[in-house]
Amino acid sequence: MSQQSCLAGNPEDNRSDEGRARDLLAQMTLQEKIGQMSQVNGGSADLHQAVREGRVGSVLNEVNVEEINELQRLAMLESRLGIPLLIGRDVIHGFKTIFPIPLGQAASWDPAIVERGAAVAAMEAESAGINWTFAPMIDIARDPRWGRIAESLGEDPHLSSVLGAAMVRGFQGERLDQQGSIAACAKHFAGYGAVESGLDYNTTNIPENELRNVYMPPFKAALDAGVATFMSSFSDLNGVPCAGNEFLMKQVLRQEWDFNGFVVSDWDAIKELTVHGFTATDREAVLEATDAGIDMEMASPLYGQHLPALVEEGKVSEQQIDTMVCNILRLKFQLGLFDNPYTNPGHYPRLVNAQHLQAAKEAALRSCVLLKNDHQTLPLSKQTLGSVAVIGPLADDGYEQLGTWVFDGESQHSHTCLQAIHALAGEEFEVRWSQGMASSRCRKQDGFDDAVQIARDSDVALMFLGEESILSGEAHCRAEIDLPGNQEQLIDAIAATGTPIVVVVMAGRPLTLQSVLDKVDAVLYAWHPGTMGGPAIVDLLFGVEAPSGKLPVSFPRLVGQIPIYYSKKNTGRPPSHDSITHIDEIDGKAAQTSLGMSAFHLDAGFTPLFPFGYGLSYTRFEYSDIAVSADRITLGDTIEVSSTLVNAGDCAAEEVVQLYVRDLVGNVTRPVKELKGFQRVRLEPGQSQRVSFNLHTDELSFYNRKMIQVTEPGMFHAWIGGNSDTELWTGFEIVDS
Ligand code: BGC
Repeated sequence: MSQQSCLAGNPEDNRSDEGRARDLLAQMTLQEKIGQMSQVNGGSADLHQAVREGRVGSVLNEVNVEEINELQRLAMLESRLGIPLLIGRDVIHGFKTIFPIPLGQAASWDPAIVERGAAVAAMEAESAGINWTFAPMIDIARDPRWGRIAESLGEDPHLSSVLGAAMVRGFQGERLDQQGSIAACAKHFAGYGAVESGLDYNTTNIPENELRNVYMPPFKAALDAGVATFMSSFSDLNGVPCAGNEFLMKQVLRQEWDFNGFVVSDWDAIKELTVHGFTATDREAVLEATDAGIDMEMASPLYGQHLPALVEEGKVSEQQIDTMVCNILRLKFQLGLFDNPYTNPGHYPRLVNAQHLQAAKEAALRSCVLLKNDHQTLPLSKQTLGSVAVIGPLADDGYEQLGTWVFDGESQHSHTCLQAIHALAGEEFEVRWSQGMASSRCRKQDGFDDAVQIARDSDVALMFLGEESILSGEAHCRAEIDLPGNQEQLIDAIAATGTPIVVVVMAGRPLTLQSVLDKVDAVLYAWHPGTMGGPAIVDLLFGVEAPSGKLPVSFPRLVGQIPIYYSKKNTGRPPSHDSITHIDEIDGKAAQTSLGMSAFHLDAGFTPLFPFGYGLSYTRFEYSDIAVSADRITLGDTIEVSSTLVNAGDCAAEEVVQLYVRDLVGNVTRPVKELKGFQRVRLEPGQSQRVSFNLHTDELSFYNRKMIQVTEPGMFHAWIGGNSDTELWTGFEIVDS
């Protein structure tokens, strides 16, 4: 079967859009059709003329609303057929009101918060004339060296699926033609997160079984949520770069999943097919990309240059072109652009308004993860506190707290931590401030004395450390992922004063914190928290709210453990805590087999520093009495797994309750644990609640050796707890009938 043709499209689906697209297609010249398949960067030379001549279907990176309206006017009134433009932009975690980076939002484990963030971003972006965002990025990311982990929703297929779908709903709203709805784009299809050594653009080798079980589920979930477009990945997948990958784009996306939207290449990715060594010429690259089913070319102009001749020679059929163009036109009709192509910003809520800021603050509040809190250092009490020392390069930097992919956000809107502490302190306690270092990468120590002095004089030192925005994101990968520059030395200097230390980390990735952890009393991981990072973080530090974020990705102790993720396979030689030896404990001239024969690193053991799903609260949550509704269920049935959760501490707080499952035996080996559900539960002190999850046997399916999706009868374990290390488990069996 070839790509679904619009002519063969399901008449039930968007009949009028489909019909209008078809009518229009019938009137188009080949050149106009190819024009629709071409996306051009805003501001490029000759753009106005190209739009008039119908040589452009979409413009990206133009955000001036007058210019966008002018481009739409040219397209509507001065091009022969009056086809409006798709205006694309990377609106990744906010437009002007910036939300936490996606990895931070994932730490909220809160689909409603994530959906709201995308809806705010869509509303603001649309008010500038943008009708298409290149988000959500739903690449499974298990390598924190990769800078793009910041844009991802973390390591887990289930969490990424649920939150990615929430983003799609947020961007697209109920209907694409409503105010505040823009088209979303599921990217980067597929497997980009597996780039070797966490190096951006690098090669990926992913067995098909793993591709289907780990990397594809979030894309299927985005599709099920109605995502309008897909973007192909830059990367080479098993020898076939994704922009020319027929297996991905045709077999999986069109034939198996019946995708009815369109696929855009990534930036210049069709041209890069030749750089990969996959094609010899631009022309061949165009042939491979169209054969694979890349409907629109981003940035490079090769479709316009080579498709006419390829069609003339019969190498690309006009029917193929029609299918692709129809995919694009259909979306333009769905967005209502033919009827309403222009934007009047006056019809929209003000940018960065109070509600949007409040939504950004709530997202940041739920995104922060409390990693350590010895002796209940946190929350701080403004009643008993005499003075705080605020130290560090990220305490008062409205730009760096925004994170990567902030093309349109402006630091002047940012509320920093220092500002928020001043606002909270009023006359009640003294705030002393010393930046200590000019930037996170600074290698000088000339600011240390000042910082040490104020720490010595204060009741607590609040250190705002981490990474600047530029150290994560596209093409910004690191081989070491520790605190850069002299930050650890700054911690040492402050620790020497004996003043308790609270570290707030802002970063675009998990950092290796093992060496600093023992030197400080508390660590709050805030990712890059966005415009409202300051007030959110300060509310958490002072206990206005209890932290409730949970890690969406495992934190390694050392870089050498990467990739380290919770849903690993068991291996034939799984390690245990009793069976491992640390490198410093090995006897001299020890015999070869004296260390046991299991899968661990001599210098790092086998556990992460913090596991997936981990995050502390100011209260203590206790789990007990896990139970299943039946010991045995039949394929096709649903089982209920439940447990009692008690807030055993003394403050009200939210907990993210997590359900994990293990399929003990499989036609292909199954992970030791897989997340299958989660819920946010708020409990008052002393309150308890029975938390239950319904699990259908279909949710336990996986792709087997023959690449067939099956749920296999057999024994399963189920855990409920507050992170992936939970030990509270029960079991059940699935039988055939
Ligand atoms: C990135 C995409 C992005 C595109 C457009 C590329 O470099 O890989 O994620 O959407 O640029 O800016």
